[in-house]
Amino acid sequence: MVKKKTCIFISGSGTNLKNLILRSRDNTFPINISLIITDNREAYGIKYAKKYKIPFLFINTKQRNFENDILFNLKKYEISFICLAGYMKIISNSLIQKYKNKIINIHPSLLPKFKGLNTYSRMLRNKEVKAGCTVHYVDKKLDNGNSILKKMFFINEKDNEKTLKQRTQKLEYQAYPEAIIKIFKNN
Ligand code: GAR
Repeated sequence: MVKKKTCIFISGSGTNLKNLILRSRDNTFPINISLIITDNREAYGIKYAKKYKIPFLFINTKQRNFENDILFNLKKYEISFICLAGYMKIISNSLIQKYKNKIINIHPSLLPKFKGLNTYSRMLRNKEVKAGCTVHYVDKKLDNGNSILKKMFFINEKDNEKTLKQRTQKLEYQAYPEAIIKIFKNN
C-alpha cells in the first residue's frame, strides 16, 4: 500500500495529531504524516512533532505571503492530503481549490449544529441531549462541507464543559482515524 503523504495543521494541544501519528505507524493505515504546520509558535502539539521526528513549520498567518509559504511547503513535501486537527484559522480559497476534496477537519459537535468556537458551553446552555464529533471535508465556509463520519453520545445531568470535552475527544480519537480509513477504502 502506498501511503498518502499527509500534512496535519494544528494550533493547540495536538492530541488528535498525536493519535494520528501513532495510528499512522501501522502499515495498513492509509496515510503517512510527512509534515506538520502550525500558526502558533507556542502550540503544545509541536512537542509531538519533535518527539516523533516529523518535520514541522511555524507559518505566521499575519505575514502577507503566508498562503504562498504554505503552498510552497506542501509542494516541497509532496503532500497529497491535509488533516486539520484543532487548526483555528480559515483555510484560504486557493488552498481549497488546489486540494479539492483532499482537506478534512474534525469538529467537536454534531454538525451542522454548533459550528465555530465555544461548542461545549453553547451546548450546555441550549440544554442539548446529544453531543459528539464530526469529521468533514473542508470548503469555503467555517465548519461546513460534506460530512464523512459522526460519532454521538448522550449528555447527562452531571456533564459540564470539562467532561463534555473529555467525552468528545475520546470519540474524536476513534472518529478521525476511522474517517481516514473510510476515505481511502476504495483507493
Ligand atoms: C478538537 O477537539 C477539535 O475537534 C477542535 O479542536 C480540538 C483540538 O484538540 N476543533 C475545532 O473546534 C475546529 N473548529 P487537539 O489540539 O488536542 O487535537
